[in-house]
Amino acid sequence: MRGATGSNPGRTFVFSRKKAQKGKLTLVLLVSFCGNLSCIVDKFRVVGGQPLQGRVSISGAKNSALPCMAAALLTPETVTLHNIPYVRDIITQRRLLEDIGATVLTPELRTHKITASHVEVFEAPYELVKTMRASVLALGPLLTRFGKAKVSLPGGCAIGTRPIDLHLSGFEKFGAQVKLEAGNVVARAPEDGRLRAADIQFSKVTVTGTENLMMAATLARGTTTLRNVAREPEIVDLADLLNKMGARVNGAGSDTIQIEGVEALGAAEHTIIPDRIETGTFIVAAALTSGQLEIKDCRPDHLTSIIAKLRKAGVVIQELNPTTLAITCPDGLVAGDVSTAPYPEFPTDMQAQYMVLMTQARGRSEIIETVFENRFMHASELQRMSAQIHIDGSSAIVDGPTTLTGARVIASDLRASASLVLAGLIAKGETVIDRVYHIDRGYEKIEAKLLAVGAEIERVRAPVTTSQLQEVQPVVESV
Ligand code: UD1
Repeated sequence: MRGATGSNPGRTFVFSRKKAQKGKLTLVLLVSFCGNLSCIVDKFRVVGGQPLQGRVSISGAKNSALPCMAAALLTPETVTLHNIPYVRDIITQRRLLEDIGATVLTPELRTHKITASHVEVFEAPYELVKTMRASVLALGPLLTRFGKAKVSLPGGCAIGTRPIDLHLSGFEKFGAQVKLEAGNVVARAPEDGRLRAADIQFSKVTVTGTENLMMAATLARGTTTLRNVAREPEIVDLADLLNKMGARVNGAGSDTIQIEGVEALGAAEHTIIPDRIETGTFIVAAALTSGQLEIKDCRPDHLTSIIAKLRKAGVVIQELNPTTLAITCPDGLVAGDVSTAPYPEFPTDMQAQYMVLMTQARGRSEIIETVFENRFMHASELQRMSAQIHIDGSSAIVDGPTTLTGARVIASDLRASASLVLAGLIAKGETVIDRVYHIDRGYEKIEAKLLAVGAEIERVRAPVTTSQLQEVQPVVESV
C-alpha cells in the first residue's frame, strides 16, 4: 500500500483557502495593532575591536534540516529528526508541514517528530513561499505520495531571479502534468496516481532541484537516474534519511544519483549534519578579530574548499579531532582570489563573509560570483563602512587592508547580514545592523554565540511605525 492517507487520484482536487484567509486576517490584525503605536523590529548593535576567544558549538545545518523535514511528508509513519537548528526558516517549515496536516512534536528543542498520516491539504501557500523559497521542497513529496501538489511560485528574490524551472521540467519527465494557475504551480501525477521513473539530466546544478526530484523518485514506478546533480553534503544527508525510511538511493555525493522507486516509505530516526556555512562564518570571525577560537561539533570534511582558501589567506586552521577546529591568525591576512561554484568548490553562501575577510588582507583580491546574479548587495553596505570594493558585474575587486568604521547598515539577505556582523566585529566604533530577521532565518542565536566568546554585540528591540514596518515587510527571501 502506498502512502496511505489521501492517495486517491480519483478524488476531487481541492486545496484549502482557509489558511490563506487566516494569513490575511493575521496581517490585518498586525497592522491594526501597530497603527500609530509602532511595532518592534530587532537590530544588532556591535562595537568592534574584541578578539574572539573560547569555544563555540555549531548547530545543525538549516539547508539539510529543511529538505529532511519535507521528506517526512513521504510517509504516514513518524520521522524523528535530531539536531534541528533553532532558526526561523525551521519554524516556517514546521508551520508549512502543520498547515498541510502533519503533526510536529518537539520533545526537545532540537528534536522534531513529524507524522504526516492525515494529510488533507496539498499546498504550500504564497504567505509561506514568499518568506522562504525552500517551501517548494513540499512539491516532490506531495506529488509522489498523493499524486497532486500545489505550491505558490516563488516571486522575485533579493539575490536574483532564482527560477524553479528545473524542478518543474523534472516533474514533467516523471509523467506529471504541471500547470501554472494564478501564480501557483499545480502538479498532478498520471492517471494511476503514480509517477514514472525517468532519466533526467540537469542543465544546471541545483541543490533544492536535486532534492525535490530525488524525493519524488523514491515512490515512482521504476528506477530513476538523475545526472549533473548537486553534490552538497546536504544532498548526502537527505539521501541517508531517505534510505533509513526504506528508499533505495545510490550515488548521492557524486554527480549521478540512481533511485529505485519503492511502494511505500516508513518511520526513521536521523541526526542532521552540522552547518558548514555557520562553521565557515565562525572561522572568518576568529581570523578577522585575531582571536583564538575552538569550533566544536562541526564537520571539517564538509569544508575542504573553504578551509583550503582560508589557509591560503593566512588563517591557521588546526583539526583537533574530526569534529573540532582551532582557529588563529598570527601573521595577518593576504589577499587571494576566489570564484564561487557548486560543491565541492567554494560556496556562494560564504562569498559575503570572504569579502569582509579580504578587506583586512594585504593586497588586491578578486571575488567572482558564478552561482547567483545580484549577490553583492552587502558590498555597498561594506563600502559605507569604508571598505575599498569595486563591483563590476559578477566580479568584486577588494583592496586591503582597510580600517573599517562603524555605521548604520541594512541587511539584505541571510549571508549578507552575516558579513555585516563580521564587519561590525572589527570596525572602529559602533555598527547598527538593521533587518536582522534575515540572519535569524539561518543562524542560531548568533549574537549569543558571539557574546559568549568575547564580542561586544547586543540585540536591540527598536520600535518602528507602521510606515517603517511596510518598508521592511515585503522582502522576499530565499537562501
Ligand atoms: C540552495 C541553498 C542556498 C545556496 C544555493 C546554492 C537551500 C535551502 N538553499 O538554494 O543556501 O545558496 O543552494 O548553493 O538549500 N536555477 C535555475 N533553475 C532552477 C533551479 C535553480 O536556473 O530550477 C539556478 C538558480 O537561479 C541559481 C543556480 O541554479 O543560479 C543554483 O540555484 P540552486 O542550487 O537551486 O539554489 P537553491 O537550491 O535555491
